[in-house]
Amino acid sequence: MSSLLIIGTQWGDEGKGKLTNYYAAHADMIVRFQGGANAGHTVSVNGSPVVFHLLPSGISVPGVKCVIGAGVVIDPHKLVEEIDKVRPLGIAERENLLIDVGAHLTLEYHRAIEAAQERARGAAAIGTTMRGIGPTYADRTAREGVTMGEMAQFDAFARRVRDIAERKNTLLTKAYDAEPVNVDSMLDGLRELAPRLTPHLADTPSIIREAAASHGNVIFEGAQGTLLDLSFGTYPFVTSSNTSAGGLAPGTGVPPSAIDEVVGVAKAYITRVGAGPFPTESDGDAAEQIRRRGHEHGSTTGRPRRCGWLDTVALRYSIAINGIRRLIITKLDVLDECEEIPVCVAYELDGERVEEFPRSAEALARAVPVYETMPGWLSDTSACREAGQLPQKAIEYLRRVEKLSGASVAAVSVGAAAHAIVHFDHVL
Ligand code: IMO
Ligand code: MG
Repeated sequence: MSSLLIIGTQWGDEGKGKLTNYYAAHADMIVRFQGGANAGHTVSVNGSPVVFHLLPSGISVPGVKCVIGAGVVIDPHKLVEEIDKVRPLGIAERENLLIDVGAHLTLEYHRAIEAAQERARGAAAIGTTMRGIGPTYADRTAREGVTMGEMAQFDAFARRVRDIAERKNTLLTKAYDAEPVNVDSMLDGLRELAPRLTPHLADTPSIIREAAASHGNVIFEGAQGTLLDLSFGTYPFVTSSNTSAGGLAPGTGVPPSAIDEVVGVAKAYITRVGAGPFPTESDGDAAEQIRRRGHEHGSTTGRPRRCGWLDTVALRYSIAINGIRRLIITKLDVLDECEEIPVCVAYELDGERVEEFPRSAEALARAVPVYETMPGWLSDTSACREAGQLPQKAIEYLRRVEKLSGASVAAVSVGAAAHAIVHFDHVL
């Protein structure tokens, strides 16, 4: 029995979804606790890749209950689209998908306001996924949000949404000189969707606690990554939720003490989508090779991801923020053709060597990475399934990452296929 929290240690897209899906075979429940349709998790379902934005990654595994916790923000159109996509496979039925009554709704005016805000920011735009995430969380905090639970009493829900939407239209037209949303057609759409979603509503904290207490394995699936955390990421170039381990309790109603282990996921290199400082970003042939071999295009927006070398300063910071003792390194195979692999071990900032991750985005933007170069292994690791099959130089790379980060490597993923994983240690 174990409760495992899977957290991204970089700027997202570390492969959390693939791993959650993999370990789901040994789990009773998978819980999402933050983020919304900004996440894009590509998992292999019956051998074909399927992208989930809102559904927990274990949804395709028979017998696993999936929970969308109170900390998640739900775009109802996107969620129904996703349910429809997987329903022919006989999954996401009423009994295996639970949505917490406290989760907030992302509505059309949230997306419209985000578009207007990003436009107004001009060169200082964050490069968001345009999924309405920031405005939804802002409304939740300002107590102007609407919850999934309210949807069950549709008429009262509609009156409240209308009232809020009219104020949002004033903001859109007067402050941003943007088009208002059509409140009537928005409400018509919601009236149609409500009966598809309300059967999944539940008071989930007690259900999750019971699953964890009754000798079950529960996986809490993080979205985004620690460096995009609202409080501890590279603010303002972050997302609007707590993506680090601390987001668990307010996002689920389950106490931090319910967690047995926080496992960190890191790519063997690093990527970022959207704007913001990125010290090890590389724009040469090597980055292009990584982008190509790693298929580094956003699964939510299709944007090419910015690519760079592994940053162990950032990794140490994430490990500390989350209380990570074990890491899973993903996409090791993407480095198979690199003759040399630079690893960032420190930064040079204002003429000094620093080993701590700067808390300000402005300082991070000035940080110059100090690299140590490891020799590449120049052989195909994608068919490796046991530690003994990995080339010695790949093992040396992983050992160096352990030494520099202070966490041990429990497993490495060497390809997109569900079972392309080499275990060093038992995870779940
Ligand atoms: P997964 O779960 C990578 C980034 C956006 C932008 C910033 C803010 O697949 O790892 P937002 O739309 O959240 O307000 O955008 O955060 N971002 C992600 N980058 N992976 C994600 O999710 C992301 N979700 C948001 O690109 O820089
Ligand atoms: Mg993703």
